[in-house]
Amino acid sequence: MSRNIAYESLKNVNAPFEADYQQVFKDFLESGWYILGTQVNAFEKEFAAYCGTKHCIGVASGLDAIILPLAAFDFPKDSEVLVPSNTYIASILGIINAGYKPVLVEPDIITYNIDPTKIKASITNKTRAILVVHLYGKMCNMTAITNIAKEYNLKIVEDCAQAHGAIHQDKKAGNWSDAGAFSFYPTKNLGCLGDGGAITTNDDALADKLLYLRNYGSKVKYQNDYTGFNSRLDELQAAFLRRKLIRLDEINSHKRTLASLYQQGLSNTYIKPSIQEQNFDVFHIYNIRTPKRDALKQYLLENGIRTEIHYPIAPHQQNGYKHLFGNTAYPLSSEIHQTTLSLPISYCHSVEDIRYVVEKINAF
Ligand SMILES: Cc1ncc(COP(=O)(O)O)c(C=O)c1O
Repeated sequence: MSRNIAYESLKNVNAPFEADYQQVFKDFLESGWYILGTQVNAFEKEFAAYCGTKHCIGVASGLDAIILPLAAFDFPKDSEVLVPSNTYIASILGIINAGYKPVLVEPDIITYNIDPTKIKASITNKTRAILVVHLYGKMCNMTAITNIAKEYNLKIVEDCAQAHGAIHQDKKAGNWSDAGAFSFYPTKNLGCLGDGGAITTNDDALADKLLYLRNYGSKVKYQNDYTGFNSRLDELQAAFLRRKLIRLDEINSHKRTLASLYQQGLSNTYIKPSIQEQNFDVFHIYNIRTPKRDALKQYLLENGIRTEIHYPIAPHQQNGYKHLFGNTAYPLSSEIHQTTLSLPISYCHSVEDIRYVVEKINAF
């Protein structure tokens, strides 16, 4: 029997929370307090506890969660920040908007995360930080990366937009570095109903400065101690996020179950995600790679299965960004962008949905 399988249905993903959200909205409206109130405050405490960090500062988006800590470090303006060449464009834009130069480092073709063995060759006397990205929900090799950062006195910011609840060794995403940057864009494992983001940190001074930066450089009304931003996590979104956070582990566990069906069921003609003993992956995205990617995507569509590509164009080939990277080739990044395909995997997909996708892919 043929089925219709969406890549993602945000309506269905949020359906289990509908009654909760209606109540949350009613309480919010009645509270009469709509910016930086008790909901943001409580969510920050709860999310910090979830990540195991001392602090969490809610901001307006995942992009801002990258910009604000980098801006807070106040590096000289020609500073360089290392970033993986196959990341989503927001990681790169975050560095640019903070006033620095992004320097691309190729990923490890097995994990799709920044390759620690290639980092040292990209360090110059202008390098001040590494922006690691835990892509698709798998954490980077933070053990190796934190050692390099210590040796060269570099800051680390983790882009955790795709890795809420992911673990490397004994610590969660957002607790391995100077600052963790989270997005709560609706499709994320912890997604709200609009834009939202947060920064986690164990650094008291940085946390304090971020409280100023997100609010026009002010902690006391009409007193501005820094040139800041307007980047506050919305009170209503924080209230929704508090409800969803309670079920984040269940969401991650559901996605891990679906991922294991793909891992076991899909033919080995496809390159499947690698699994490392020291990592707990949360599969924001489940990707496979094949040279026949475009034909497979079309065939799945004809069989009622929608897929996505994360991402179709590499950052160094994007019209708005290629001037930054000259003629340097990033062959691994290009290879990933040409061959990767993201399969349906979300809180609203069932085991039967995934079995159907597996069956169709194996018959291709
Ligand atoms: C890796 C990565 N970094 C940053 C972001 C930016 O998050 P936002 O869309 O909330 O600004 C995203 C979200 O799409 C992302 O996937």
